[in-house]
Amino acid sequence: MLKKVVIVSGARPNFVKIAPIVDEMKRYDDISVVLVHTGQHYDSNMSGEFFALFGLDDPDYEMNVGSGSHAEQTAKIMTRFEKVCVTERPDMVIVVGDVNSTLAASLVAKKLGIPVAHVEAGLRSKDHSMPEEINRIVTDSISDILFTTEQQATKNLLAEGHSACSIHFVGHVMIDTLIIQRDKLERSKISEYVRDFKEASDRYACLTLHRPSNVDDSVTFRRIMDAIEIISRNIPIAFPCHPRTLNSLRRLKNEWNYLDMSKEKKIRIENGIFLSEPLRYDDFLFLWKDADFVLTDSGGLQEETTAFGVPCFTLRENTERPITVEIGTNIVVGTDGENIIKSVDALLRGELKKGGVPPLWDGRASERIVKVIRSELGYEAKAIDPDSAVIG
Ligand code: UD1
Repeated sequence: MLKKVVIVSGARPNFVKIAPIVDEMKRYDDISVVLVHTGQHYDSNMSGEFFALFGLDDPDYEMNVGSGSHAEQTAKIMTRFEKVCVTERPDMVIVVGDVNSTLAASLVAKKLGIPVAHVEAGLRSKDHSMPEEINRIVTDSISDILFTTEQQATKNLLAEGHSACSIHFVGHVMIDTLIIQRDKLERSKISEYVRDFKEASDRYACLTLHRPSNVDDSVTFRRIMDAIEIISRNIPIAFPCHPRTLNSLRRLKNEWNYLDMSKEKKIRIENGIFLSEPLRYDDFLFLWKDADFVLTDSGGLQEETTAFGVPCFTLRENTERPITVEIGTNIVVGTDGENIIKSVDALLRGELKKGGVPPLWDGRASERIVKVIRSELGYEAKAIDPDSAVIG
């Protein structure tokens, strides 16, 4: 009998994570996949372009929820997603990551009695002021199947009382996508202004910022940007700007003359900082994979840089992804300006932190996930022994 699985995505990092799962599921004709896009991210360079690049079909449901307060956005997703579930009556709902769409969809499915699988479960920053941490805790607490990317996540879930049989350490779907997209880069049409920047710079760094705690708080944001300006005197920095960050930058630096970049679509040069709109995935990968270092507050980029051995400075006080620090190239430097500058200076002097690739970050996570899902749907024996949840 044909089983139906609903896969939910809503924000930029979600598209990266669902792509290889959807692809893997297509290999089986006994699973029908219903793709839902909540519309949490809606600008083309935050959303639509990702679907095209990853070869994802148009979503079966576009819920167009847009922006709003957390309560508004979460409530809108819940109301609209409930209708989808009632119409489709799926055998399982798959959610990924830690965004509001993840939380909202899992709550709806669970209350309708539909089993929920959470991909990227168990990560914990222990920082309850982070909206994503709340999303992680609540989503995991009601999910039936928990797929983890690193062993600490598995340990966190066991410590919270989840049974070992519900936890599957499978590696990281985001790395599956990363490997596929890197191998396609040579054939990609990299934007001219991105290529120009790279060719003109022997050495360069990349910067991304979007956490509300960094960019909405004007004192912290000024502190970070002052440090970035100092660093940019020694090395050019490419800074693709999330919409939230661009709004804060406009308030902070009106002397930088931020024009309407959506019309220009160019990197503007301000001191050594090369500012742009959010870049397409392939454009950004083309840049950061060869950067001298990356400065970021993103969760995903901490992991991606670790996978490719690129030095990464995380501009936060903590990370929910400790493997990137233990094994990888990540250094958590916080948001103190002096500390950021000191850490970057050390790297520029040649003090490199060597990194390795975490276990199972091998491009095959989606294969493992779909095996488990098929087994849960009653198709075939589990490929992964539930005992493998308990490692280390
Ligand atoms: C969301 C996720 C965050 C993730 C990030 C990736 C939550 C709580 N946060 O944060 O975990 O790391 O996505 O980018 O789910 N906006 C646009 N165009 C868009 C989307 C947003 O202009 O396509 C603007 C709106 O002004 C909006 C703001 O950006 O208010 C923030 O968007 P929102 O979805 O609320 O959260 P993010 O900061 O993107």
